[in-house]
Amino acid sequence: MVLINENYLKLPGSYLFSEIARRVNQFKAENADADIIRLGIGDVTRPLSPAIVDAMKAAVDEMGRAESFRGYGPEQGYEFLSEKIIENDYKPLGVELNTDEVFISDGAKTDTANFPDILGVTNIIAVTDPVYPVYVDSNVMAGRTGAFNAKGQFDGIVYLPCTEENGMKPQLPTTKVDMIYLCFPNNPTGMTLTKDELKQWVDYARDNKALILFDAAYEAFIQEENIPRSIYEIEGAREVAVEFRSYSKTAGFTGTRCAYTVVPKEVKAYDSQGNAHSLNSFWLRRQTTKFNGVSYPVQAAAAAIYSEAGQKEIQANIRYYMDNATIIREGLINAGYKVFGGVNAPYIWLKTPDNVSSWDFFDTLLNQANVVGTPGAGFGASGEGYFRLTAFGTRENTEKALERIRTRM
Ligand code: MLT
Repeated sequence: MVLINENYLKLPGSYLFSEIARRVNQFKAENADADIIRLGIGDVTRPLSPAIVDAMKAAVDEMGRAESFRGYGPEQGYEFLSEKIIENDYKPLGVELNTDEVFISDGAKTDTANFPDILGVTNIIAVTDPVYPVYVDSNVMAGRTGAFNAKGQFDGIVYLPCTEENGMKPQLPTTKVDMIYLCFPNNPTGMTLTKDELKQWVDYARDNKALILFDAAYEAFIQEENIPRSIYEIEGAREVAVEFRSYSKTAGFTGTRCAYTVVPKEVKAYDSQGNAHSLNSFWLRRQTTKFNGVSYPVQAAAAAIYSEAGQKEIQANIRYYMDNATIIREGLINAGYKVFGGVNAPYIWLKTPDNVSSWDFFDTLLNQANVVGTPGAGFGASGEGYFRLTAFGTRENTEKALERIRTRM
């Protein structure tokens, strides 16, 4: 008799964004004429920029000629891309890396969910609350948690509330934890940590032999000074942190799929005898076994992001989305909402009026304004009473959505 992985039985519902899609499809089936504006899942709307498209087309042409055809690529990614990453994304921050510390993949979601494969199942994990649900769900699947409890949380996980009282910044855990997920600029709150604040986490990890899984997928949206773009800007972080980055939001790759993870050689985890092991070699072992790399045309397209034209084009797209963020943020403030984020991140986190539950607000917004957002409760218990809108819509839809919120809500 084949047995299932019973950890999946602990998961209370479907994945957050699948549940939202289901509800929106049902609404659409019942209201065929409704002009729905989707500001729910953080999916981009600007097309791939010309420099990226040209590079992808050229790479496809190469693949169609015997003399330039390529079969399996390196599982860790082509050096032509990792060299550009190091040169452009890290050198300017004063961070030195080798190409074998960069692992190209098909997404930060994939990597954040897969990375714990190489970590012990008894590790205690800490997550901010609210949190990107992938960190939690993937650890539930792996058996690193207990049951889903009445508080709407999993037993065994240390939740670090990010609330209005603490400025949406997590406080250090009061009990010992081993794996700490941090995402800054934050999804979903759109808030950030300063370098000094992030340093406290690096110090905690060093003192406790813990690991920080740092999701920097939104670093390209930072507008203000003194906000770290990489955790490696913090002294000592190379010993205790892995960093996930993505081209999804930065360069419009949500449908194209390309991202990367940095695993410095110094970062270690321990066996039960206390012997230290390099996570870099474990992750390489895992990736070479379970992954065959991102396709050549996609990596060639990603490399074009770093060309002069590519940089100009993606910066214009980032500006476009951050102008949307300003429109949403200011529009909501003018309409009397309390809002967070939207300054260094493409997410705006609003407090629902009159303490309405986040799913009720979702339904009202969909029914009255035909606008889709993401209920804060979907990101964790501390997200209840909050709601997330994304700045990744088109300008026209963003303006229209705000007008509807102003007049119909
Ligand atoms: C989100 O809306 O939170 C993101 O788009 C999800 C993701 O990147 O997987």
